[in-house]
Amino acid sequence: MRHALQPPGPFDVTTPAVSDGPLVLEAARAIVGRCRVPGDKSISHRYAIFAAMAEGRTTIRGLSTGADVEATLTCLAALGARIARDDDGIVRVTGCGLTGFAQPAAMLDAGNSGTTLRLLSGVVAGWPLAVGLTGDASLCRRPMRRIIDPLTAMGAAITSADGRPPLTIRGGTLRAISWRPPVPSAQVKSAILLAGLRAVGRTSVDEPLATRDHTERAFPLFGLRAETDGLVVSVDGGQRAVAPTGDLDVPGDPSSAAVWAAAAAALPGSSVTIDGVGLNPRRLGFLRVLERMGAEVHAEVTGLTGGEPCGTLRVRGGDQRPVVIAPEEVPDVIDELPVLAAAAALGGGLEVSGAGELRVKESDRISALVTGLRALGVEADERPDGFAITGHRRPTGGRVDAAGDHRLVMAFAIVGLGASGRTTITGANVVAVSYPGFAPALAALRA
Ligand code: S3P
Repeated sequence: MRHALQPPGPFDVTTPAVSDGPLVLEAARAIVGRCRVPGDKSISHRYAIFAAMAEGRTTIRGLSTGADVEATLTCLAALGARIARDDDGIVRVTGCGLTGFAQPAAMLDAGNSGTTLRLLSGVVAGWPLAVGLTGDASLCRRPMRRIIDPLTAMGAAITSADGRPPLTIRGGTLRAISWRPPVPSAQVKSAILLAGLRAVGRTSVDEPLATRDHTERAFPLFGLRAETDGLVVSVDGGQRAVAPTGDLDVPGDPSSAAVWAAAAAALPGSSVTIDGVGLNPRRLGFLRVLERMGAEVHAEVTGLTGGEPCGTLRVRGGDQRPVVIAPEEVPDVIDELPVLAAAAALGGGLEVSGAGELRVKESDRISALVTGLRALGVEADERPDGFAITGHRRPTGGRVDAAGDHRLVMAFAIVGLGASGRTTITGANVVAVSYPGFAPALAALRA
């Protein structure tokens, strides 16, 4: 059976398809076993978006079933892409390459997903449409000047709620720009490159620090060219995307694998193996940190799927040492900082600086992480651009709220596995934003 995705209702502002529900955890002796994790969220967004831009039909296996990627699919359907998902999870997208995107009947709802809203802004800016983009309460607090400024410089007319969603984008013929984003951000880079495909001339993004390169790696799959020279990525305007001849496979999400890796590193006697996981070096900063913490880490690349290295990851717990994460490391661990903090709370402690971007993620991740860790009996200090966690004292467990943030659910769950008492995480179903099936996966690995 196939399910066609329906566009959202007129000017709907909905929260992601998750409801409130506590996750209750008792301590575990260790994390042991072998598993796979859901399809990579970042790659899934990109394959779906490129497929919708392309001429022809793209078949994607292993696309994330998380609420964020569902939001992207729903928005793309509202722009005219035809999308169907089989019962076995294969997604087929018939793109708008021949006809162009259609004027959506309603505002596009990105839910909780910054990637959806920022990348789609870059896409629609190149089309003669008036497109509204909004999201849930969390997304409507997040900064959008970082995409509004470059897309406006390219010629799009954009209104916003003082630099935040909802946005209205009136796009059309764009001119190329050379842009240096104020913060390292793969979302910003990608939005500009996607707009650059429809601009007159050559568009370049000069990144302050290297960020994940999934957009650049997806380009050739759809017959597109991007050129990377150090920290500068450039695209020529006037390129047209074409659906790949073969099927695309999305590797497992290393950010989800990081949860089991961090839990294994934190609980002595643990050993976990994750198969079919993406091993793009820009996403593996967490492994370098876990090694410094004392874990035994083995990542074996077994092949390339769609230009993305993927393979098997093994992590065993070891001695636990204190670790410092420096500002220049932050882009490569940005999404894993909460689970690294949790591992460090059960181990030797952690200091992080230069991570002010955490304050504008799905929650203020510095404040919500420190507040939550303290509620579980961890000694943690908030700093303007980071935090300090003191290990060496067993957390007590307790009751903690996920603050609407999927990554915090997973971080607090790790602390719960090592705590002396029971841990109750309220609002935990938000974990389905990136990791549907998190609770059963945890039950299968706990020893
Ligand atoms: C993402 C990039 C990162 C990351 C987010 C996904 C992407 O955000 O935190 O979860 O898919 O491009 P920034 O690019 O804003 O740092």
